[in-house]
Amino acid sequence: MNDLVVEGKIFLWSRGIVEGCVGIKNGRIAEIKKVARGEEKIRCRGVILPGGVDIHVHMREPGMTHKEDFYTGTVAAACGGTTAVVDMPNTFPPTDDLDSLREKKRLAEKSAVDYGIMVALTEKLGSQVRAAEEATGIKWYYGTTTGAVGWGDAKKGVSVLAYIAGQSDRCQGKLLTVHAEKGDGTGDNARSLEEHSRMRSVEREVEAVEAIGNTVKKAGEETKRDVNEWFVFNIAHVSSPMTVETARKHGFRTEVTPHHLFLDTGMALGPLGKVNPPLRSKAERMGLWKKLVSGEVDVVASDHAPHTFEEKNIDFPEAPAGLPGVETRMPLIFYEVKRGNLDLEMFVGLVSRNPAKMLGVPKGEIAIGLDADLAVFSFQNVSRVMGEKLHSKCGWTPFEGFNAIFPDTVICRGGVVVRDGEFVGERGWGKYLGGNKADGVGEREH
Ligand code: DOR
Ligand code: ZN
Repeated sequence: MNDLVVEGKIFLWSRGIVEGCVGIKNGRIAEIKKVARGEEKIRCRGVILPGGVDIHVHMREPGMTHKEDFYTGTVAAACGGTTAVVDMPNTFPPTDDLDSLREKKRLAEKSAVDYGIMVALTEKLGSQVRAAEEATGIKWYYGTTTGAVGWGDAKKGVSVLAYIAGQSDRCQGKLLTVHAEKGDGTGDNARSLEEHSRMRSVEREVEAVEAIGNTVKKAGEETKRDVNEWFVFNIAHVSSPMTVETARKHGFRTEVTPHHLFLDTGMALGPLGKVNPPLRSKAERMGLWKKLVSGEVDVVASDHAPHTFEEKNIDFPEAPAGLPGVETRMPLIFYEVKRGNLDLEMFVGLVSRNPAKMLGVPKGEIAIGLDADLAVFSFQNVSRVMGEKLHSKCGWTPFEGFNAIFPDTVICRGGVVVRDGEFVGERGWGKYLGGNKADGVGEREH
């Protein structure tokens, strides 16, 4: 007998929607059948999708817990249909060695959904192979941004990567997310969205990707070590279609954010819209949508970077860069599925299946043996995004008033975390996602 049965319209990868039951036992999907029996049964009106995987969030712990913490941030994730998140290392202190990683793992135990933790790529990581082994993945800040640690030196970065991968099989196969913006902080004192975009330009983004791509290629030729095969290279928050093309040319994956898809420099957001890389023009934004719809983008991640409204709502040059978005990521894009702008399979690929595969975790699909992570969305359930109703500690959203579809029911490893749109989960329910493919994680039969 199953512990829980979820009944309704189930989305199955490459098959589409079928009417039936998902049987869950011990947190895993045990059966998918027309009829199944369980201790508890939930009958759903909407479409049952795999839970979302958001591979780019900043939960601000340690050091900035007035903006967010692992509990509030993961409650927000759950309420938006996301059952796994991956946290970035630009905290205080930064996550750049084994001690800081272990401390963050301890702090993250309060999470309401599953979580991964990235370590920063610095010279330190060369002597901290254990940190790279134990982390979910590696974040490379190529260039400067809010609280970032790292450096815009492609040669150094690639040599540290080659070194750690050569030291340990357990470092190989990991997700390597790159913040690719060439430069030294020029543009951070811009006075408007338009000026910010001009100073931290698309060209700087493209140049960074080119530099990294060329260095990887050259290092591969010289040392016969192809770091692009050892790591899952992912260019974070790509803000323009040109960058998507450049990244693909070098064999890299690409991640785009909802803010680069829905917001642009023509909108009256002022400092609230300040983010790195910057929002672009409407034309660039529409070009990014085209890339997404044509299947040239791998992932939609939120880059949830909460700052409080008071911190953001000041003179443009002084305002910190970064926008919250973990809770609105799936709801905003699912509304585009309803409108016919994106097909359902592509949606699932972008928000769940592709990122799960890139992480190497047994999630991202409704299939026997995988984690029972589900998010149920009803096409009828259209509402408007309201900052005050969201769960992030930061209390505001750049998408105020946008149409969205929030999930009715969300399940993480068999535990109901959202019921009738309300958070009903538990503090501490989330588990750490190590991302070690060498240990067989993610290699279970699909
Ligand atoms: O705008 C940004 N804010 N870009 C980043 O890369 C970091 C982020 C933050 O942590 O606030
Ligand atoms: Zn980020």
